[in-house]
Amino acid sequence: TAGLNTQRIGQQVMAHDEVQSTQPLAHEAAARGAEEGTLVLAEQQTGGKGRLGRQWHSPKGTGIWMSLIIRPAIPLPKTPQMTLLTAVSVARTIREETGLPVKIKWPNDIFIGDKKVCGILTELNAESDRVNYLVIGIGVNANSVAEDFPQELAEIATSLRIESGEQVKRVRFIQQFCRFFEEEYDYFLQNGFERVKAEWEANSYTIGRWVNVQTISQKLEGRAIALDDEGVLMVQDQAGAIHKVYSADVNYRAN
Ligand code: BTN
Repeated sequence: TAGLNTQRIGQQVMAHDEVQSTQPLAHEAAARGAEEGTLVLAEQQTGGKGRLGRQWHSPKGTGIWMSLIIRPAIPLPKTPQMTLLTAVSVARTIREETGLPVKIKWPNDIFIGDKKVCGILTELNAESDRVNYLVIGIGVNANSVAEDFPQELAEIATSLRIESGEQVKRVRFIQQFCRFFEEEYDYFLQNGFERVKAEWEANSYTIGRWVNVQTISQKLEGRAIALDDEGVLMVQDQAGAIHKVYSADVNYRAN
């Protein structure tokens, strides 16, 4: 943490070699009282977790696999905003560290072109309607080469190294992320969601695109037009009606 110059984000680091997943380790640490900003890192995950029960391919040494513990004093319905804030911070880190043109795909995948380079998995611990802590899992395909991806990922995933042709300095990347995240987070806690919303929209892959939305409760098609003030995606269907989309698997169609 030398030279990190943040107040809390990344000031405590628990670095592991091989783990199943950094997520449960971060939950255990948080339950034992780990400070806000604690980062759990691993070189390799044998059971990396993705969203919607998926697996996250986390081979040794090439990625940034980390879980961040935060304890925001915000009401429960605002917690999804923390995920959007994280996506904005990762996007900014990638842009500044590599110069690559990154985009955020709803709700929180980071894309370069049409391929995913980073995923974010936020897990909440709350008692009744009080937020205890959040574990924000971030997986960045940093230095993987094409051969590192299994067949089924080759078409949909990429890495910073593949895209830029250069090796990413992972420690430096993580430190930069911590600075950006802390800055965004402090601003958010004091001033609210507006700046994150503007940055998310400015970097969005999704806004303006035609999308198919499929959740347990809704199935709709329309154009993604904006985030609302709470961070919910607004989709306008062919008849002009506007629908709010919370967190779903959104599929895309050209045009
Ligand atoms: C997704 O896009 O589905 C989310 C992927 C999140 C992956 C990260 S890697 C670090 C942390 N530990 C995990 O097991 N998952 C998250």
